[in-house]
Amino acid sequence: MKKLFRKLNAWTKTLQDAFNKICIRLKHPEITRYIRYVKQNYAKGKNSKIRTAYGRGWKNVVILVDKKYAFKFPFSRCDKKFTENLAKQEKRIVDAFRKISPIYIPSVELIDWNGLIVRKYDYVSGRPITDFAPEKITYDILKKIAKQLADFIWVIVQSNPKELRDLKKNPDEEPKLMYGWMHTDLATNFLVDKNFNIVAVIDWEEVYWGYIEWGFFTLNRSLDKRGYYGVALDTLFEYVFDYLDASNKK
Ligand SMILES: Nc1ncnc2c1ncn2[C@@H]1O[C@H](COP(=O)(O)OP(=O)(O)O)[C@@H](O)[C@H]1O
Ligand SMILES: [Mg+2]
Repeated sequence: MKKLFRKLNAWTKTLQDAFNKICIRLKHPEITRYIRYVKQNYAKGKNSKIRTAYGRGWKNVVILVDKKYAFKFPFSRCDKKFTENLAKQEKRIVDAFRKISPIYIPSVELIDWNGLIVRKYDYVSGRPITDFAPEKITYDILKKIAKQLADFIWVIVQSNPKELRDLKKNPDEEPKLMYGWMHTDLATNFLVDKNFNIVAVIDWEEVYWGYIEWGFFTLNRSLDKRGYYGVALDTLFEYVFDYLDASNKK
């Protein structure tokens, strides 16, 4: 029954997405203003291609322009000060991790548009794993994704960028095996190419310093729920192997 439901869900996904997009445009008329601003200032004339995209939380609209830029606008019901602080913090985090991450992180620029802080990212052409039906994720693909995720998490956890010192509860703390910086919303925010190479990690809003189990837990919860069983567990195994490798080299 569950399998049948998932299949039905996959078949109607395009229709559901289109329906959701219409609903969200009706609910948030400000999106029209956002698109107009982007068109007037960043589009390449009449032939310019503009698309909208949404994250899981439906709290922002992302406007994609000519496969060149992605602009993230918060909905007007969101608290302006809160989203401004979130955007500023994300920029600091992205700037710090871009320099060391083994996976590409698109750069972010903050634009003050009449008091609204808009995030402008470099565009990445990749798709979240959720764009592929779970049946397409063979064991080899699962292994490939898990290894890349683990190597990425390992580097981020073991890093301790001094620019982010003040964001830690205790600035003098050092990273440990299961303790450090962690992206806790990875499931839909790593983008892959057609060969399942991870081409980027986006959406650095939910990053924190602390026990990293939480990041593995959210990865597992989000992916398992959608039928991508085992990805998070295998990532955790690969992560421990990375640790053992590093310990042996010492
Ligand atoms: N730099 C980018 N390049 C291409 N697409 C992007 C980029 N940033 C975001 N997107 C698209 O917008 C969607 C939502 O972006 P995300 O940063 O995850 O927003 P949210 O914070 O609302 O979850 C993504 O799933 C992706 O499809
Ligand atoms: Mg997201």
